Amino acid sequence: MKNSWIWGGFLVVILVGNLLAAVTPQQLRCEYRINPLGVDVIRPRLSWILTSDDPAARGIVQQAYQVLAASSRDALAKDEGNFWDSGRVESSQTLHIEYNGTPLKSGEDVFWKVKVWSTALVDIRDSKEEVASAWSEPAMWSMGLLKQTDRKAQWISDGLPCTELLPGVWTRPTTHLRREFTLDKPITRATVLVSGLGMYEFNLNGRRLGEQQLAPEFTVYKNRIQYNVFDATKQLQQGANAVGAMVGDSWYNNRLIFAPPPPERPFEGRRGFYMELEIVYADGQKQHILSDTDWTWTTEGPIRSNNIYDGEMYDARKELTGWADAGYDDSGWKPAVKGEFPGTALVWQRNEPISIVEERKPVSVHSPEPGVYQFDMGQNMVGWCRVRVNGAGGQAINIRHAEMLNDKGRIYTDNLRGAKQLNIYVKRSDGPEEYEPRFTYQGFRYVEVSGVTGEMTLADLTGKVVYSAARRTGWFECSNALVNQLMSNIFWTQRANMYGMPTDCPQRDERTGWMGDIQAFAQTAMFNMDMAPFMSKWLMDVRDSQADDGRFPDMAPTPADTNKGFSSVPAWGDAGVFVPWDVYVNYADLRLIKEHFPAMQKWVDFIHEQNPDHIWRKSRGNDYNDWLNGDTLIAEGWPRKGGMVPQEVFGTAFYARSTQRVAQFAAILGRHELEKIYRQRHKDICEAFMKTFVDAEGVIQGNTQAGYALALAFDILPEDRQAKAAEHMVECLKPYNGHLSTGIQSTHRFMQELTRRGYHEQAGQLLLLDTFPSWGHTIREGATTIWERWDGYLTGRGFQHPGMNSFNHWALGAVGEWIWRHLAGINPDEAHPGFTQFVLQPRPIKGVDWAKGCFECVRGRIVSDWKRENGTFTYTVEVPANTTATVILPQARLENVRENNKLLTQSFGISQCEQAGYDVHCQVVSGTYTFQW
Ligand code: BGC
Repeated sequence: MKNSWIWGGFLVVILVGNLLAAVTPQQLRCEYRINPLGVDVIRPRLSWILTSDDPAARGIVQQAYQVLAASSRDALAKDEGNFWDSGRVESSQTLHIEYNGTPLKSGEDVFWKVKVWSTALVDIRDSKEEVASAWSEPAMWSMGLLKQTDRKAQWISDGLPCTELLPGVWTRPTTHLRREFTLDKPITRATVLVSGLGMYEFNLNGRRLGEQQLAPEFTVYKNRIQYNVFDATKQLQQGANAVGAMVGDSWYNNRLIFAPPPPERPFEGRRGFYMELEIVYADGQKQHILSDTDWTWTTEGPIRSNNIYDGEMYDARKELTGWADAGYDDSGWKPAVKGEFPGTALVWQRNEPISIVEERKPVSVHSPEPGVYQFDMGQNMVGWCRVRVNGAGGQAINIRHAEMLNDKGRIYTDNLRGAKQLNIYVKRSDGPEEYEPRFTYQGFRYVEVSGVTGEMTLADLTGKVVYSAARRTGWFECSNALVNQLMSNIFWTQRANMYGMPTDCPQRDERTGWMGDIQAFAQTAMFNMDMAPFMSKWLMDVRDSQADDGRFPDMAPTPADTNKGFSSVPAWGDAGVFVPWDVYVNYADLRLIKEHFPAMQKWVDFIHEQNPDHIWRKSRGNDYNDWLNGDTLIAEGWPRKGGMVPQEVFGTAFYARSTQRVAQFAAILGRHELEKIYRQRHKDICEAFMKTFVDAEGVIQGNTQAGYALALAFDILPEDRQAKAAEHMVECLKPYNGHLSTGIQSTHRFMQELTRRGYHEQAGQLLLLDTFPSWGHTIREGATTIWERWDGYLTGRGFQHPGMNSFNHWALGAVGEWIWRHLAGINPDEAHPGFTQFVLQPRPIKGVDWAKGCFECVRGRIVSDWKRENGTFTYTVEVPANTTATVILPQARLENVRENNKLLTQSFGISQCEQAGYDVHCQVVSGTYTFQW
């Protein structure tokens, strides 16, 4: 750590002791998760953040850390690191510290804590006096299956095939499996590892275990299936116990777009269940209860059919009361058979499970006809509903879900295509009963309940908001109501499309991990939520879905055989390179990059082999291009030509960027020979692009908004051609009367490039437009989520074609990145991944007088909060401990800027202050600052 700072040319070095703020390591994480159970990583990585109890503290830097890891809570409390005592390690690193102690075994518990030594600035003096923190609160993780040969149990099954109920609908009643056992001694600890094929619900002594819904999530099942681990100590008892699992259908063995029907799926649609329950007795002895052929099964339970698209059919008359309790009479059940699912690894569910994150009450209900009630949730949302319904025993009640209403004010379901989104509940007996589905999910704002007796009120329905429960990290607010609504729409759309994979939509018969969509949305997603665990899981799916020759899939996990098709598409396949780049920039995850690098290399090499002249002409798969660009809009007076960028321009632009990223990754990994090769190839591609597509006037073939936006965003054009290209790009707004003609791959890039190339006010105007087509226009039409198409619904014209018209697609919401970067002013710095250093640069626009962004990056909380009032600009920032930021103050004169009522150049923690054109630049160390000018 440098112990000197330069202010206005003066060197000030004063040592101070004892006045330093107390720093505490918090948010202890193992492989990104807090107290995870079942980790299957041999050397898990540990992380924490530093917080200070003194709001005035600045320049906190970790100088060293010590980690203790122990086999028990007691040992840790006594400061015994019997697994690992790192000793004092001189390092400012708080992320991805590899466990480096005694080799860990499958199933082992590890308790850990950390202590840090840090320095801070005090007043305008710089202290190198170190302060030791107290030990952090203890945290823990448990190891899961480190080797497949450590598996103790076997897959069990009912041995039945799936049946085709209706053409293309493969399902059957869920399978219940159970077993009883007796424990004759007091127990101190029990953990259970479970998995299913397809979705399971696991019960222990009659109570469901775990928060996870719809587990195991979608993976390339023939390669790996996720398991979950739970602490079962409290639910077990001395004496008789019972375990019970209900297994339904899922992405695994039911109808899924682009997937062959179950008979051609890897395991022919069979169901399976896997469990290892480990019990540790007070006397130290261990016992295992496993899934084996001692279990029994039945399919005579209440869930008669289920799948993710169509809903669930639940016959409450068939409920098996007490089936997961000890003492239940299962004499009619059959013995379980051994399941054969060869070659499939059981892996830890490293991403946050799909969970119920929020409950919502409807905002209105009315009865359009007798026995029918229509609820409005006031928000397009995803998950399901719990309903209380009245009627006679055996009465069937239909619960249907839709995003929109038709012109008669009833639910509009045409855009769901083949997905029914219908739950059917058959009443157990007379009187009110409650029901909530288990093995399905729905995208909806409106719910229609029909077939009920008596009146339904708002109290009778509760919406459950369900998604991969990644931690929220971003909060944004500004003076403009439209922008706030847009940010809300983006956030809700993100919630809607995180289902163990980044999906395209949550309602129609699709809901798959379309790569092109998340490729556009990834950085926005990473501002809103901590996406690291989710992406670490999903990038495995991407690798598992890659074709043998290197083609990345269109969707991951792929439902199709990518050797045959659904692979190799520009922008979709490139997500296999772009998303890891965003993960690297935001989370500095080098291990992941190392794992993923060979796959990325194979991808760009494949394109190169197919296209040795550097223009991506061949092997572009289904070539979706700049999907849903301006040419696809249907509105009076709207041009139907001129928006779509030529296919080869589009493909080559993405190919150039992917190759450049591979070169950068090679450099980051120290693979300098490879770096050279890819740098040269990148240069060749850019040159070929220029030669083939750009004329002497700088016009890019097609002369589209999108073409310029992509070429500029991907830094393909030589410096002296960029300004001209930007001019052409702005010109291209004219035929559209100042509106966008861009599709899902170029819209946010167009906005970014306007700002980057000196047309920030134009970008601001586009953001705030509310004429067609624009974000504001969809909001005027009532959108509470991001629409798939700008013209999903137009007053006067009505709905777009129902074959492709979702109201919950996130790609056009990638403008969230622009809002975060420029209105909030928070920018990661690619040269300093993982936010060790970042850039704070608010760029006000007309129509927005203040904005406040709060973003919890991997190193702690960043705040950027600005206001323009009566000619004065006030800007408050918070820079987390152990990080630094470049702060850019817009439209400021260095001599006028005050920080905390002092001249900028005299305030502490601030250095390298300079006038740069109309702005003032400076560097700040951690702390809170208020600038005013
Ligand atoms: C999806 C898109 C996807 C596209 C491929 C659509 O059906 O909903 O979001 O990226 O197919 O062009």
